[in-house]
Amino acid sequence: MTVTPDAIKQLKQEVGIAAAKRVKSGMVVGLGTGSTTAYAIEELGARLASGELKDIIGIPTSFSAAILAKKYGVPVRTLDDVDRIDVAIDGADEVDPAKNLIKGGGAAHTREKVVDSLAALFIVVVDESKLVQKLGSTFAVPVEILPMAIAPVTKAIEKLGGKPELRLAIKKDGPIITDQGNFVLDVTFADIPDPAELEKTLNNIPGVLENGLFVGVTDIVLVGEFKDGKPMIREF
Ligand code: 5RP
Repeated sequence: MTVTPDAIKQLKQEVGIAAAKRVKSGMVVGLGTGSTTAYAIEELGARLASGELKDIIGIPTSFSAAILAKKYGVPVRTLDDVDRIDVAIDGADEVDPAKNLIKGGGAAHTREKVVDSLAALFIVVVDESKLVQKLGSTFAVPVEILPMAIAPVTKAIEKLGGKPELRLAIKKDGPIITDQGNFVLDVTFADIPDPAELEKTLNNIPGVLENGLFVGVTDIVLVGEFKDGKPMIREF
């Protein structure tokens, strides 16, 4: 069947809700960023409001997640206030068969990696359009950089064979500015034979804060997909 934007939206909603239903009372929950996770945050708020869920603490991965948590009544704290994260729920831009990810479509990958990596259980929520055989096949690798280092970082990335493009803002002239006040380069690679190696190599360039390759972090992927015309959730 043709997967329309409305159908994708429905899958995102179903998968976000399914992840939020796995949260139990008393848990510290990493709140990811993006349109899929937004449904999970909304569902957490609904479960809190109904009394089905009690005493959870949200750790937002972005200003966007913090604003949604406030809107839906999910209490938030910072990493300074907690000694653990029980579960993190976050979206992704690509997921490969080994559950490695490209993230950062919302330029939030730096905080997302901190929070998602700390979680005892990291649940990725995606619709089926995000599944790829190889990372980098549909999405560039977002790299957050210090603005003053754009020239040397660009050269270093080109030396690695990447094609960096400064991400531009919408409804603001010039580059997007991350929650930390930095720029993002979206880097296209013809091939990423070893995502783990590239993740480390990129982060080793002076001026790079973090890149969107998430290797070995994911525990569970919940995929929203259509089977015989009906929306289903598959776990892998
Ligand atoms: C933000 C992210 C998002 O999780 C990723 O872009 C997926 O977003 P969406 O659920 O809207 O498709 O990494 O930095």
